[in-house]
Parts: sequence; C-alpha cells; structure tokens
Amino acid sequence: MAKKIRLGILGGGGDSLIGILHRVASQINDNYEIVGGVFNANFEENIAFAKQIDVPTNRIYKDFDTLIEEEMKLPESERIQVCSILTPNFLHFPMAKKLLDNGFHVICEKPMTTSLEEAKILQEAHKKAGTVFALTHTYTGYPMVREMRERIKAGELGKVHKVDAQYYQGWINTIIHDKAKRSSVWRLDPEKAGISSCMGDIGVHAFNMIEYTTGLQVKSLLCDFNYLYEDNKMDVDGTVLIRLGDHVKGVIRSSQVATGEENGLAITIYGEKAAFKWEQENPNYVYKLSDTEPLQVLKPGHAYNSKLSLDGTKLPPGHPEGIFDSMANIYKGVAKAIRGENYNSGEFPTMLDGVRGMNFIESTVASHKNGNTWVKME
Ligand SMILES: NC(=O)c1ccc[n+]([C@@H]2O[C@H](COP(=O)([O-])OP(=O)(O)OC[C@H]3O[C@@H](n4cnc5c(N)ncnc54)[C@H](O)[C@@H]3O)[C@@H](O)[C@H]2O)c1
Repeated sequence: MAKKIRLGILGGGGDSLIGILHRVASQINDNYEIVGGVFNANFEENIAFAKQIDVPTNRIYKDFDTLIEEEMKLPESERIQVCSILTPNFLHFPMAKKLLDNGFHVICEKPMTTSLEEAKILQEAHKKAGTVFALTHTYTGYPMVREMRERIKAGELGKVHKVDAQYYQGWINTIIHDKAKRSSVWRLDPEKAGISSCMGDIGVHAFNMIEYTTGLQVKSLLCDFNYLYEDNKMDVDGTVLIRLGDHVKGVIRSSQVATGEENGLAITIYGEKAAFKWEQENPNYVYKLSDTEPLQVLKPGHAYNSKLSLDGTKLPPGHPEGIFDSMANIYKGVAKAIRGENYNSGEFPTMLDGVRGMNFIESTVASHKNGNTWVKME
C-alpha cells in the first residue's frame, strides 16, 4: 500500500466556503494526510480550527512564509509534499510561486492568479520546478463531464459548430444593492479578487468547461459586462460571444445577479450529428440530443462509459455521487501524478488551463472596456 501524501492547506479555514470541499475530497480516496498549513490569517483562529478538525498544531504556522521556512528545515521524507491554496485570489500567485520555487507540488484554486502576466511567470516557475501543478476547476471531475469529453474526442457529435455555457448565480443580490455591504466583500474588491468578479469567479469555469469538453480553444471574444452601480468597480454579470473557429461559435453567459439561481452551471455542445447537454445541479446525467433519434440519457458507472469516466465513479450505477466526489477525482489524479503513476491528461486541470483562464478573463475585461469590441485570445 502506497504511503499517504503529506498535504498542507493554505486558507480554507472554518469560516471559508471552499475549505470543507477540499478537506473531504482529499480524504475520499485515502491518498492524503493533512499534516499542517495556515488555515486563517489570524493565528489564534488558525490554531483553534486545527484543534477542531484534529490536525496536530505543531505544523500549523503563523503565516505562509513561516510555513516555507520551517518545512524546508525538515528532511524531505517528513516535509509537506503538496499544498492546496484556498485563499482569496490575490494570494494564489505569491503562494504558488514560492511553493514551486521551493520544489513543492501545488493544488491551486481558480482563478489561478490576478493577471495573465502573473500566470505566465507562474508557468515559467512551474517548468523550472518540474513538480505537479493542478488547478481546481472542480466540475471537470464529474464522471459525466469526463464522458462528454471522451465521446466528443471520439467523434460522436461530428464536427462541433455551436457551444453554449451558462453559469448563473443570484447570491450577490443580497449584497450588491446595499452600498455599505457591496464595499465589504473581497469578491467585489479589485485588490483581493483581481480585475473581474463574475467572469473571474464563475465565467472562467464555464470557459474551462467548453475547452475541456470540446478540446477546442476560444480564438476571439466579445464581452458585455453589467456593474449595476456606478460606484461598483467589478462586473456582476456578463455575456460573452466566442469564436472557436471560422464556423464554430458560441456564447458564455455568466451572472451573480440572476435572481433565484443557485449554482446554475450548464453546458451544451452542438455538433453536426448530435448534441450533449449537462447541468451541474443534476450532474449524473448527460442528455444526448438528436434530430433523428429519441433523446438518450447517459448515466455514470455503466460499462458503456469511457475509462476516464469510470475511473471517477466508486460505486455501482444508481448510487448518486456529487461535488465532493468530483473534487476527489481531481485529488485522485494529482495523487497519481505525484506518485509518478500513469494518468490521463483529463484527470485534473493544469497550469495551461490556468494560463488560458487568465487570458480569457483579461480578454473579457479588455473587450468590455474597449466598448464591446472583438478581442483575440493569443
Ligand atoms: N473551485 C470552485 O468551484 C470554487 C468555489 C468557491 C471558491 N473557489 C475559490 O476558492 C478561493 C477561496 O474562496 P472562498 O469562497 O472559500 O473564500 P472565503 O472568503 O470563504 O475563505 C477564504 C479563507 O482564506 C483564509 N485566508 C485569508 N487570508 C489568508 C492568509 N493570508 N493566510 C491563510 N489563510 C488566509 C480566510 O481566513 C478564509 O478561511 C477563491 O480563490 C475562490 O475563487 C473555488
């Protein structure tokens, strides 16, 4: 039995949204042991939370720089091997860069950085480090998203000609309409979130899903943002027309003010022979649409699924798996990579996805600022 991988956690404290998803996901396939980290910026909260979740406090550090300093003093056989970065966006780049420069593997939340320039610097640092870098576009871990990717790659839809991805949430309605509240959350503060709120936080997932499932790249885009209020510096809604080829076009619709919407990520890929439709709130079904055949519903865990999809299910068909399992599949792929085992390139999003994502976010902001003009993605 392989030894567990020593995992450190940065951010993701008891007060956070995403911490529990990573902690649970890292445990699901028995690959990791959480040995230390910096859960919160405040040391007392940090220690209190470590005690609460039973992580030994001797490797809970007062800040990230101390973590690096102290861990580097330990023999490699004891040192943290991989760190998960679950902090607000502006800390992703400095943390990931220093981790890579010191030879650690990295699992990083999206958006990867706050600018394309930082993303490219990180890409160089990653090349030099030669360690594993994964970006947690969580939804790529769902078995039926993987199934779409494999079937599209095998030509089941024929030539893709139209893509439509939507990511609609409504949660910012409770904040944005109140002047005091809208200046108090980090997702609406450019210093902490980067240049975009809605597109950087969720539109980038929709973008990644299109490139992940089709294997195509967005070549150019035109974006229209809504900021809702004059004093609000960040987009809370945006629509993006995209071109992936001369006759391959589509749209990304993204909103944090889509009233009543919860986590409405949905993607449809239309090809000349058929189409696939998938919705995150109902993730165990892929609908196959046809102009000549009845609607087909594909489900996980069956022998008709691809190897990549089946690698992401743990139980026989009919036992629904969800978002924790999806993230766990990403952690599973990373564990294989860290151990030097064979893995499929679709098992976890990479540095390249991070650079593409930052290119997308910057291009949408440029397009909107230029007066809604077409912008080429390099
Ligand atoms: N993959 C996904 O689907 C998904 C979903 C939600 C959030 N995210 C991403 O996860 C990241 C965190 O989002 P969140 O919603 O959990 O944020 P959050 O504000 O709920 O939590 C952030 C956590 O980071 C901690 N923190 C802040 N500064 C720190 C520092 N200097 N050192 C250590 N810890 C520090 C905070 O104490 C808190 O525990 C963001 O980058 C976000 O985009 C991804």
